[in-house]
Amino acid sequence: MSAALLFTPWSMREVVARNRVAISPMQMYSAQDGHASDWHLAHLARFALGGAGIVFVESTAVEKRGRNTHGDIGLWDDSQVEPLARIARALRSNGAVPGIQLGHCGRKAGLQKWWEGHGPLTADDAARGEGPWPTVGPSPLAVDAGWRVPQAPDTQGVERIVQAWAEAAARARDAGFQALEIHGAHGYLIHQFLHPLSNQREDRYGIKRWTFALEVAEAVRRQWPQELPLFWRTSLADPMDGGFEADESIAFARALRERGVDVLDCSSGGGISGYPANEKRAPRGLDFRAELAQQIRAATGIAVMGVGLIIDPRHAEEFLARGQADLIALGREALYNPNWAAHAELALGASDNYARWPLQYRMWLQRRAAVADPVRASAQARTPA
Ligand SMILES: Cc1cc2nc3c(=O)[nH]c(=O)nc-3n(C[C@H](O)[C@H](O)[C@H](O)COP(=O)(O)O)c2cc1C
Repeated sequence: MSAALLFTPWSMREVVARNRVAISPMQMYSAQDGHASDWHLAHLARFALGGAGIVFVESTAVEKRGRNTHGDIGLWDDSQVEPLARIARALRSNGAVPGIQLGHCGRKAGLQKWWEGHGPLTADDAARGEGPWPTVGPSPLAVDAGWRVPQAPDTQGVERIVQAWAEAAARARDAGFQALEIHGAHGYLIHQFLHPLSNQREDRYGIKRWTFALEVAEAVRRQWPQELPLFWRTSLADPMDGGFEADESIAFARALRERGVDVLDCSSGGGISGYPANEKRAPRGLDFRAELAQQIRAATGIAVMGVGLIIDPRHAEEFLARGQADLIALGREALYNPNWAAHAELALGASDNYARWPLQYRMWLQRRAAVADPVRASAQARTPA
């Protein structure tokens, strides 16, 4: 068997993941009043059974007005802890580190679910019981034409939002999660405070645009146990779509690290402007910006999680081998194949005989291989080239 890096354990603080495959946070728009549902349990447990090392629950709203849609999960209320605790227990008992992402959409809150259009909520949506609500942002600047103009809270109002992040982190801790990610990307509230297009404030949150992000990092770290890792999702997007220039990304990662952030989750999604409603896109795709991630990792020592169109296990292995990432996260590929990690382990020759598949499956998969492999080989032999 080969010693694939992807299947060596990863440890940070006192948490050990069985391998370096993480499932990226993915919103399902299937919560009721911010409470996680049976759908979420079934959806996420598949990834733990499929062998992933860390499984992240989707972006979970720290304030009700910060939801992306009416279907978002939240942690703004104590009643929302237990349904998430059930998920954390299921992930952990099936071998995965239970993780959760906390988010606040700011001026991009109040959208239709994607199957209802994914634009800003309208009067028609109100007629079917899912109307818009007042949103907040750093400044009263809409994302684009047709979007709501957010209310800009005063300085104390912003401090209360920082406090909401801290309270949600405490609830995530109480729910039993072992990895926490702060969503600082994709044009949502933290990203809006970082960017001059959306933050034109004149108080301390505008004079130094990093202030809100760094206060959130500090407030969350105070609530999040010292023995557990803290992740931060950043947008390594094109600068015209809200990404920093390389030197600013490095300096920002260093500032986060000094505040106890352990892992930078390097997404390439921008979204500071009108995306997704007006189809504006950064000129580049969503693939992992490995070279920039490597520069940040080397310059700051922060651990990196790479994400974006990572499909082939050999590719994932190369990112790790080149020092471009410490962890590999999967989004859509995991929806397509929730057993991706278990399959990748076989493909990289890192395990044989289904030894790390769920015990309940192993003997049957070994027997299946004994009969299915010859059947497949003879079918392939009969297929014309
Ligand atoms: C259905 C779906 C929901 C998503 N929801 C979130 C989310 O809650 N938070 C987040 O940071 N990114 C979210 N993303 C982005 C993914 O986490 C991931 O970064 C992106 O899809 C790129 O990875 P991929 O090419 O492996 O899909 C979502 C993506 C999908 C497909």
